[in-house]
Amino acid sequence: MLTNSKAAIIDSIFSATLTPGLFDRFAQFIQQRCGIRIERSKQPMLEGRLRKRMRALLLPTFESYADYLFDQSNSNTDEIVNFLDTITTNKTDFFREAPHFDYLRSTVLTEFMAQCGRRDVSTFRIWSAGCSTGEEPYSLAMVLNEFAEKNAAFSYAILATDLCARALAVAKSGIYDIDQLDDVNPEYRRRYFSFNRTPDRRRVCILPELRENVVFKRFNFMTPVFPIRQPLQAIFCRNVMIYFDRPTREQLISRLIGKLAPGGYLFTGHSESLAGYRTCLKPVATAVYQKPR
Ligand SMILES: C[S@@+](CC[C@H](N)C(=O)[O-])C[C@H]1O[C@@H](n2cnc3c(N)ncnc32)[C@H](O)[C@@H]1O
Repeated sequence: MLTNSKAAIIDSIFSATLTPGLFDRFAQFIQQRCGIRIERSKQPMLEGRLRKRMRALLLPTFESYADYLFDQSNSNTDEIVNFLDTITTNKTDFFREAPHFDYLRSTVLTEFMAQCGRRDVSTFRIWSAGCSTGEEPYSLAMVLNEFAEKNAAFSYAILATDLCARALAVAKSGIYDIDQLDDVNPEYRRRYFSFNRTPDRRRVCILPELRENVVFKRFNFMTPVFPIRQPLQAIFCRNVMIYFDRPTREQLISRLIGKLAPGGYLFTGHSESLAGYRTCLKPVATAVYQKPR
């Protein structure tokens, strides 16, 4: 049962409204920290997300939460992580925007093997940049694993990063609801998932042999130096840039290009065309771009 004082705080949280000045302060902080632009029309969404943190901390007003979050003397880094976790939108799916996985299979991988010629083993390096809860890098792992089984000289390494610590925890666990497998073909379901023995059998788990081929790391695209040393054959950075303003997108695109090997591919979300951006990339398929050799 709620105590009277706790009930009063919860009441206060639900009746609180964000003043224009405080909205601007939160919006500016979010943009500086992670590049996400929050339009004024999104105020109800922002209020809803802030309320979650206020409930967790039992802080009754937006002002009290702002004081807590922005309290530099406490260097409130834990709360900044929680706050950014609440702000990010993590929608994703296995094999989302499926033609990208077909293109990877039919063009990118075969071209890579042809380029590698007679080397004993060639490692294909790919980055799922903004991987959310892991469905994207695990979808890549299924395609790459299948390809590796047919090509003895092929090996791969997948790096998967996201800002959101909560999403990464799900990704690392590799545990999903069975309903999320609708777009996974029956062969992959059989090969790469174990069906948990929960009473309702609703949970499935990515098999360790696949999970261990994906390295997950927390990484913020606002970090000036991207700590990736080896050039990448492909980057999937999909449905991330839509949340950024144009200068942030331009900066991110140029840093991603810097990490691609000559001839490497950048995959963006289907609604994130790079038309109108000045880059060296050549469009080769819908939302797929290639760096010159
Ligand atoms: C909508 S999800 C897209 C997931 C996946 N790429 C897909 O297309 O299905 C966008 C992801 O970008 C992440 N993100 C947003 N801003 C970020 C930043 N500044 N640095 C790193 N990741 C960020 C979010 O946490 C979120 O998980």
